[in-house]
Amino acid sequence: MAFSHLTAAAATLLIVCAVGGLQAQHSYTDETEKNVLLYQLAARVDKLEKDAAEAAKAPVSFAAALVATSDWTHQGPFETDTNLVFSKVITNVGNGYDSETGIFTAPVRGLYFVLFSGNVGNSGNLNAAVMKNGINMFAIYDTQGTFSSATNGMPLVLEQGDKLWVTLWANRSIFDQSRLSTFSGFLIKSM
Ligand SMILES: *[C@@H]1O[C@H](CO)[C@@H](O)[C@H](O)[C@H]1NC(C)=O
Repeated sequence: MAFSHLTAAAATLLIVCAVGGLQAQHSYTDETEKNVLLYQLAARVDKLEKDAAEAAKAPVSFAAALVATSDWTHQGPFETDTNLVFSKVITNVGNGYDSETGIFTAPVRGLYFVLFSGNVGNSGNLNAAVMKNGINMFAIYDTQGTFSSATNGMPLVLEQGDKLWVTLWANRSIFDQSRLSTFSGFLIKSM
Protein backbone atom coordinates (compact mmCIF):
# COMPACT_ATOMS: atom_id res chain seq x y z
CA MET A 1 0.00 0.00 0.00
CA ALA A 2 2.58 2.50 1.24
CA PHE A 3 4.91 1.45 -1.52
CA SER A 4 2.49 1.89 -4.44
CA HIS A 5 1.27 5.17 -2.89
CA LEU A 6 4.82 6.51 -2.72
CA THR A 7 5.58 5.21 -6.19
CA ALA A 8 2.57 7.07 -7.59
CA ALA A 9 3.60 10.22 -5.70
CA ALA A 10 7.16 9.94 -6.99
CA ALA A 11 5.94 9.44 -10.56
CA THR A 12 3.69 12.50 -10.27
CA LEU A 13 6.56 14.58 -8.91
CA LEU A 14 8.82 13.39 -11.72
CA ILE A 15 6.24 14.50 -14.33
CA VAL A 16 5.79 17.87 -12.59
CA CYS A 17 9.56 18.33 -12.48
CA ALA A 18 9.94 17.29 -16.11
CA VAL A 19 7.30 19.82 -17.19
CA GLY A 20 8.95 22.57 -15.15
CA GLY A 21 12.39 21.43 -16.21
CA LEU A 22 12.86 23.91 -19.06
CA GLN A 23 12.26 26.92 -16.83
CA ALA A 24 14.19 25.66 -13.78
CA GLN A 25 16.95 23.28 -14.83
CA HIS A 26 18.72 23.37 -11.44
CA SER A 27 15.72 22.49 -9.24
CA TYR A 28 14.64 19.87 -11.79
CA THR A 29 17.87 17.95 -11.12
CA ASP A 30 17.63 18.35 -7.32
CA GLU A 31 14.00 17.26 -7.23
CA THR A 32 14.69 14.30 -9.49
CA GLU A 33 17.52 13.10 -7.27
CA LYS A 34 15.30 13.45 -4.19
CA ASN A 35 12.54 11.52 -5.87
CA VAL A 36 14.88 8.75 -6.97
CA LEU A 37 16.15 8.53 -3.39
CA LEU A 38 12.57 8.43 -2.06
CA TYR A 39 11.70 5.73 -4.53
CA GLN A 40 14.75 3.65 -3.52
CA LEU A 41 14.00 4.11 0.20
CA ALA A 42 10.38 3.09 -0.30
CA ALA A 43 11.52 -0.03 -2.14
CA ARG A 44 13.94 -0.90 0.68
CA VAL A 45 11.31 -0.38 3.40
CA ASP A 46 8.92 -2.56 1.40
CA LYS A 47 11.52 -5.35 1.18
CA LEU A 48 12.37 -5.10 4.92
CA GLU A 49 8.67 -5.32 5.81
CA LYS A 50 8.25 -8.40 3.61
CA ASP A 51 11.39 -10.04 5.10
CA ALA A 52 10.19 -9.30 8.64
CA ALA A 53 6.76 -10.76 7.91
CA GLU A 54 8.41 -13.88 6.43
CA ALA A 55 10.72 -14.27 9.45
CA ALA A 56 7.78 -13.96 11.87
CA LYS A 57 6.05 -16.99 10.31
CA ALA A 58 6.53 -20.42 11.92
CA PRO A 59 9.15 -22.21 9.81
CA VAL A 60 8.16 -25.10 7.56
CA SER A 61 8.48 -28.28 9.61
CA PHE A 62 7.24 -31.85 9.62
CA ALA A 63 7.40 -34.89 11.88
CA ALA A 64 5.74 -38.25 11.45
CA ALA A 65 5.91 -41.68 13.07
CA LEU A 66 5.84 -44.81 10.94
CA VAL A 67 2.56 -46.18 12.30
CA ALA A 68 -0.44 -44.47 13.86
CA THR A 69 -1.29 -47.37 16.15
CA SER A 70 0.36 -48.07 19.49
CA ASP A 71 0.19 -51.80 18.60
CA TRP A 72 3.64 -53.30 18.04
CA THR A 73 4.08 -53.25 14.26
CA HIS A 74 6.87 -54.63 12.06
CA GLN A 75 7.22 -53.60 8.40
CA GLY A 76 9.34 -55.80 6.18
CA PRO A 77 11.39 -57.65 5.34
CA PHE A 78 10.27 -57.07 1.73
CA GLU A 79 11.80 -58.65 -1.36
CA THR A 80 12.40 -55.25 -2.95
CA ASP A 81 13.42 -51.79 -1.79
CA THR A 82 10.29 -50.17 -0.36
CA ASN A 83 9.47 -46.54 0.31
CA LEU A 84 8.14 -46.12 3.83
CA VAL A 85 4.97 -44.17 4.52
CA PHE A 86 5.11 -42.54 7.95
CA SER A 87 1.39 -42.35 8.58
CA LYS A 88 1.11 -40.70 12.00
CA VAL A 89 1.60 -37.00 11.35
CA ILE A 90 2.68 -35.10 14.44
CA THR A 91 3.81 -31.79 12.93
CA ASN A 92 3.16 -30.45 9.44
CA VAL A 93 3.66 -26.67 9.40
CA GLY A 94 3.40 -25.57 5.77
CA ASN A 95 1.79 -28.91 4.72
CA GLY A 96 4.94 -30.13 2.95
CA TYR A 97 4.54 -33.70 4.21
CA ASP A 98 2.06 -36.11 2.58
CA SER A 99 1.06 -38.97 4.89
CA GLU A 100 -0.46 -40.87 1.95
CA THR A 101 2.84 -41.16 0.10
CA GLY A 102 5.44 -40.57 2.82
CA ILE A 103 6.97 -37.80 0.73
CA PHE A 104 8.00 -34.37 1.99
CA THR A 105 8.02 -31.74 -0.77
CA ALA A 106 9.97 -28.57 0.06
CA PRO A 107 7.55 -25.63 -0.25
CA VAL A 108 10.44 -23.15 -0.41
CA ARG A 109 14.12 -23.24 -1.32
CA GLY A 110 16.24 -23.27 1.81
CA LEU A 111 18.47 -24.99 4.31
CA TYR A 112 16.58 -27.74 6.15
CA PHE A 113 17.56 -30.05 8.96
CA VAL A 114 16.35 -33.59 8.29
CA LEU A 115 16.28 -36.43 10.79
CA PHE A 116 15.45 -40.12 10.60
CA SER A 117 15.33 -42.61 13.47
CA GLY A 118 14.59 -46.29 12.95
CA ASN A 119 13.93 -49.15 15.34
CA VAL A 120 14.94 -52.57 14.06
CA GLY A 121 12.12 -54.92 13.09
CA ASN A 122 11.88 -58.70 13.38
CA SER A 123 14.45 -59.43 10.65
CA GLY A 124 16.98 -58.35 13.28
CA ASN A 125 18.60 -55.80 11.00
CA LEU A 126 17.66 -52.45 9.56
CA ASN A 127 19.12 -50.53 6.67
CA ALA A 128 17.18 -47.56 5.37
CA ALA A 129 18.02 -44.27 3.71
CA VAL A 130 16.68 -40.76 3.40
CA MET A 131 16.38 -40.09 -0.33
CA LYS A 132 16.31 -36.70 -2.04
CA ASN A 133 14.68 -36.98 -5.47
CA GLY A 134 15.81 -40.62 -5.49
CA ILE A 135 19.39 -39.99 -4.37
CA ASN A 136 20.62 -41.55 -1.12
CA MET A 137 21.55 -38.60 1.13
CA PHE A 138 22.14 -40.44 4.40
CA ALA A 139 21.25 -43.75 5.97
CA ILE A 140 21.06 -45.84 9.10
CA TYR A 141 22.39 -49.37 9.44
CA ASP A 142 21.82 -51.44 12.53
CA THR A 143 22.48 -55.17 12.93
CA GLN A 144 22.31 -55.38 16.71
CA GLY A 145 18.95 -57.15 16.60
CA THR A 146 15.24 -56.46 16.87
CA PHE A 147 14.34 -53.31 18.82
CA SER A 148 17.80 -51.78 18.64
CA SER A 149 17.74 -48.39 16.99
CA ALA A 150 19.76 -45.91 14.98
CA THR A 151 19.46 -42.23 14.14
CA ASN A 152 21.00 -40.03 11.50
CA GLY A 153 20.38 -36.46 10.48
CA MET A 154 21.96 -33.58 8.61
CA PRO A 155 21.28 -30.16 7.12
CA LEU A 156 20.30 -30.31 3.45
CA VAL A 157 19.82 -27.55 0.90
CA LEU A 158 16.50 -28.18 -0.82
CA GLU A 159 15.20 -26.45 -3.90
CA GLN A 160 11.50 -25.65 -3.96
CA GLY A 161 9.77 -28.88 -5.02
CA ASP A 162 12.60 -31.21 -3.99
CA LYS A 163 11.24 -34.44 -2.54
CA LEU A 164 12.42 -36.41 0.48
CA TRP A 165 11.35 -39.87 1.55
CA VAL A 166 12.74 -42.91 3.33
CA THR A 167 13.53 -46.16 1.53
CA LEU A 168 13.78 -49.44 3.43
CA TRP A 169 16.24 -51.67 1.58
CA ALA A 170 15.26 -55.20 0.60
CA ASN A 171 15.37 -57.88 3.31
CA ARG A 172 15.47 -55.33 6.16
CA SER A 173 12.72 -54.52 8.60
CA ILE A 174 11.62 -51.67 10.79
CA PHE A 175 9.52 -51.59 13.95
CA ASP A 176 7.22 -48.95 15.38
CA GLN A 177 4.44 -48.37 17.91
CA SER A 178 3.82 -44.71 16.90
CA ARG A 179 6.91 -43.19 18.54
CA LEU A 180 10.13 -45.10 17.89
CA SER A 181 10.61 -44.81 14.13
CA THR A 182 10.22 -41.23 12.98
CA PHE A 183 10.98 -39.02 10.00
CA SER A 184 11.18 -35.28 10.56
CA GLY A 185 12.68 -32.06 9.34
CA PHE A 186 12.42 -28.31 9.52
CA LEU A 187 13.44 -25.25 7.60
CA ILE A 188 16.41 -23.52 9.22
CA LYS A 189 16.41 -20.65 6.75
CA SER A 190 14.88 -19.98 3.36
CA MET A 191 17.43 -18.96 0.75
C1 LIG B 1 17.08 -61.10 0.09
O1 LIG B 1 17.09 -62.36 0.68
C2 LIG B 1 16.90 -63.42 -0.26
C3 LIG B 1 16.80 -64.72 0.53
O2 LIG B 1 17.88 -64.87 1.43
C4 LIG B 1 18.07 -63.42 -1.24
O3 LIG B 1 17.89 -64.44 -2.19
C5 LIG B 1 18.13 -62.06 -1.93
O4 LIG B 1 19.27 -61.99 -2.77
C6 LIG B 1 18.19 -60.94 -0.91
N1 LIG B 1 18.09 -59.67 -1.59
C7 LIG B 1 18.95 -58.67 -1.34
C8 LIG B 1 18.72 -57.43 -2.16
O5 LIG B 1 19.84 -58.73 -0.51
